[in-house]
Amino acid sequence: MHAHRTPAQHTCDVLVIGGGVIGLVVAWRAAQRGLRTAVADPAPGGGAAKVAAGMLAAVTELHYGEQTLLALNLASARRYPAFTAELEEASGQDTGYRACGTLAVALDADDRAHLRELHALQQRSGLDAQWLTGRECRRLEPMLAPGVRGGLRVDGDHQTDPRRLARALLTACERAGVVFHRSEAARAVLARGRAAGAELADGTRVVAGQTVLAAGSLSGRLAGLPEEVLPPVRPVKGQILRLRVPRSHRPFLSRTVRAVVRGGPVYLVPRENGELVVGATTEELGWDTTVTAGGVYELLRDAHELVPGITELPLVETLAGLRPGSPDNAPLLGPTEVPGLLAATGHHRNGVLLTPVTGDVMAEVLATGRLPDEARPFSPLRFTPVLQEQSA
Ligand code: GLY
Repeated sequence: MHAHRTPAQHTCDVLVIGGGVIGLVVAWRAAQRGLRTAVADPAPGGGAAKVAAGMLAAVTELHYGEQTLLALNLASARRYPAFTAELEEASGQDTGYRACGTLAVALDADDRAHLRELHALQQRSGLDAQWLTGRECRRLEPMLAPGVRGGLRVDGDHQTDPRRLARALLTACERAGVVFHRSEAARAVLARGRAAGAELADGTRVVAGQTVLAAGSLSGRLAGLPEEVLPPVRPVKGQILRLRVPRSHRPFLSRTVRAVVRGGPVYLVPRENGELVVGATTEELGWDTTVTAGGVYELLRDAHELVPGITELPLVETLAGLRPGSPDNAPLLGPTEVPGLLAATGHHRNGVLLTPVTGDVMAEVLATGRLPDEARPFSPLRFTPVLQEQSA
């Protein structure tokens, strides 16, 4: 006869579903505000950040129609130095933040026209970017191909190492008393119309005053919630490579170098420890995370056109991850229409960049009930047609 086992139950103020960099920063900041906080994730510190290059590219990744997002991206970029210092102090770990700047270059007339347009948009938006000739680009970065036709020097777009960032956040959370449930959230629990935590795959029931959905591209799939409440996020596949620059070849690149080649962006992000990240494809292929010969070929081909010397470097890793894309490419931050249920997801191409500001605004709304003004344009309610009609 089997003994009847009562499911384990845990009670907290805040349950964060998802332990990627976004879930972790929300949990860390919430715990710092005195909230008893738990995270549910089978492998906290993983997620899209394990794959990401870590560019903090508010200016070089500016797109038409995304000026509202630009304000949030810039706000987060400005916080990075202080955020890094605080996190490194709290965790005792280096996060690999590097204030190295970015050079975006053009290889042919079409790329050059594209970059000129970007420069005009940057100038209209009051951003700092300087146009350079091909020769000036090569003077800055001698490994660039001789055919580079011009470029944009953006001294404010830096980088961090997302894997170290995730590790440091994990430690900071542990030191701040965050409880980790190393299991997947199987279903959200609603009680009298209010979110009340989740049941986990291992049978644990986590009862929470507030529940934060921060599961990246998986955020739209949690059982137990009405369809219209689920965040409209989708997986956007990115394949990425890691090369190693031997000491004998350093310095190879001194800043992030990027370009649009044949219509697709390619970037090379050099870390101080010799890692060189080459990314990334953008593919709408559902949940597929296969690394394909075609994806690797295209990345190497385009990166080689930019910096021919990469072919000498050891290729140490190929990986694919899923960005959490949203309908307007901007994140969903704050309360949903279900009382007690909040979202921090949909960060798409900007999850690492938006980590500091996401932690701050989510902790504020969790602790006080008030979503800071800078986050209001990113309320999840913008995707709820009924509520939009009512407020019209
Ligand atoms: N922000 C870079 C990428 O998503 O590939």
